[in-house]
Amino acid sequence: MPNMISTGRAEIEWRSESTQKPPRAAVYLSHANAEQVLKAAHAHTATVWTGDFHNAKQVLAAMKKRVRKPGSRNQHADIQTAFHSHRMRQAQQSRVLNMLAVEIGCGFSLELPRAPDVAGALADVYGAANDEPFLLPLNRLLGFIGAHEWHKKGIVLPCLEAAIHVPFGVFSPLRGEYLDLIAQAPLPADIQTAFDIGTGSGVIAALLAKCGVARIVATDNNPKALASARANLERLGYGAQVEVCAADLFPEGQADLIVCNPPWLPAKPTSAVETALYDPDNAMLKGFLSGAAQHLTPGGEVWLIMSDLAEHLHLRAPGFLAQCFAEAGLESVGQLDTRPKHAKAFAPDDPLAFARSRETTSLYRLKAALQP
Ligand SMILES: C[S@@+](CC[C@H](N)C(=O)[O-])C[C@H]1O[C@@H](n2cnc3c(N)ncnc32)[C@H](O)[C@@H]1O
Repeated sequence: MPNMISTGRAEIEWRSESTQKPPRAAVYLSHANAEQVLKAAHAHTATVWTGDFHNAKQVLAAMKKRVRKPGSRNQHADIQTAFHSHRMRQAQQSRVLNMLAVEIGCGFSLELPRAPDVAGALADVYGAANDEPFLLPLNRLLGFIGAHEWHKKGIVLPCLEAAIHVPFGVFSPLRGEYLDLIAQAPLPADIQTAFDIGTGSGVIAALLAKCGVARIVATDNNPKALASARANLERLGYGAQVEVCAADLFPEGQADLIVCNPPWLPAKPTSAVETALYDPDNAMLKGFLSGAAQHLTPGGEVWLIMSDLAEHLHLRAPGFLAQCFAEAGLESVGQLDTRPKHAKAFAPDDPLAFARSRETTSLYRLKAALQP
């Protein structure tokens, strides 16, 4: 159901690609400063900009300066509380910043002085063009434009010796350290078949194909991810080697190697994009581990990619993974580790930096345990 809000003149759809509540109302203004927009925001009213596009961007930048005070961790709060407070603060800031909006006309048009052509960026997000206008937060629109540029440009991955193109709404392998682990891990002897569970952009399937695995089935439950994976694998020349199919976790049958990089943090996503980052109650992790053994050929291996950030944030108990492996009838036959190289791990103004700086990403090699 679309979210409709009142502009005083009519009702119009509000889109924000998040679970945030829409504003109660919207007012159209060609000029306003950050204070005025923020004051209206606190009264749950969005400001729809009708003036110069670049002026709107300057107002948004001024709003960000006022809203985004550097986060600091309350030393008395426990780590888990600090994580949840950080997410709540981020959500509140994003809700306020989303109160500066623009009206998108039919065919994804943006009729503002000095506005760029946004049709391509919006088609990337929404698919078919709209035949009714809608309101969109400027901050979101700028995010969509940035994502569209990355989609066109691609992310060059040294381990693939190629670029992967990822649209908005699909997990991006920008932090590619985990791919180096896959490239380094020894493939099971005589491997013929592999499953890539939760393939996203198709990057792991592509890497396995490049490493010479003859037949790969890649699954996902996100239609955008499936389309992105198919496009990337075709472009890289692996279309015949990899079958991409919609599935809740596993496809039918068995494979010599089953790889999965599930979302790393057990928490509730607040938008469709976050479903690739947060795994509520470890549902995908547990579902994957509990079903893996029955999909393995005799002697086959499971590779689970997982960071220990959740353990550092006290969102998972230290022995949780080992217990899941045992309950799933899997035993460890090796582990490869890497440390993060991304700037966030070392940003002192990030209230979670203390946990990020300790993070290790691991590739767990598992086999079906021998029955006693
Ligand atoms: C962290 S992303 C990893 C994407 C990709 N494998 C990579 O490493 O870049 C997790 C992926 O799992 C998918 N996913 C989540 N739950 C799933 C399920 N039950 N069945 C299949 N895929 C799922 C998400 O849509 C997302 O693409």
